[in-house]
Amino acid sequence: MIIVLGSPKGGVGKTTLIGNLAALLLSRGKSVTVLRADKNEELADFFSRREEAGLPMCPLHSAYGDISREMKRLQKMSEIVLVDTAGHDSMEFRSALTAADVLLSPVRPSSQVEVDNMNKVNEVVRHVQENENPSLKAYFLFNRCKPKATDAIELARSLSADPNWIPALRTWINQLDVFESAFNLGAGVHDVSSASSLSKAKALIELLAEEIGL
Ligand SMILES: Nc1ncnc2c1ncn2[C@@H]1O[C@H](COP(=O)(O)OP(=O)(O)O)[C@@H](O)[C@H]1O
Ligand SMILES: [Mg+2]
Repeated sequence: MIIVLGSPKGGVGKTTLIGNLAALLLSRGKSVTVLRADKNEELADFFSRREEAGLPMCPLHSAYGDISREMKRLQKMSEIVLVDTAGHDSMEFRSALTAADVLLSPVRPSSQVEVDNMNKVNEVVRHVQENENPSLKAYFLFNRCKPKATDAIELARSLSADPNWIPALRTWINQLDVFESAFNLGAGVHDVSSASSLSKAKALIELLAEEIGL
């Protein structure tokens, strides 16, 4: 199963979610490979910190340009491939969709800039579903949600009112400090033993994994 985290907007939580999904799957003994298609070093640095901390590791590959062939190659070697793409409308993002099983596109419901970007994601996804990859499952993933979820509720309503929109997952990830503090240590929330809101953060990542069939 190939899961792509993608959005033409940076800072939405793609890399953080990759780190957390990888940590959860590794804690369950799954075979995971991560493909980094973003030239920034954040994910590579995360894995270096992870290794230094002695946390469970998985192979990390990098590829740029048309990454679909590399994705298919890695798929043969591993149960789950997680693909991190850059925060702009890139060749990597578009080619990743042609080979992916699932796209997760994080969006912060309270950010107008991020909400405005959903149109672009929708267009690219619909085009790929109609052409190269009809079986692509694509979802918006509400991330960094505030406790009072007014924006998220409203956004979920407007998406479900129009079948042309790709759907949003039912799992909404909250804005929680532990995601950032864990990431700084090369950890996902499943590698952390104590922190405030830790059990909530772990439950959210587990619900996310379950909802996409992991
Ligand atoms: N659910 C969350 N709660 C708190 N902070 C988050 C959450 N998701 C992401 N962040 C923070 O947001 C920033 C951007 O996240 P990042 O994963 O680097 O985004 P992207 O890869 O999409 O550019 C980081 O500082 C990260 O720690
Ligand atoms: Mg990133």
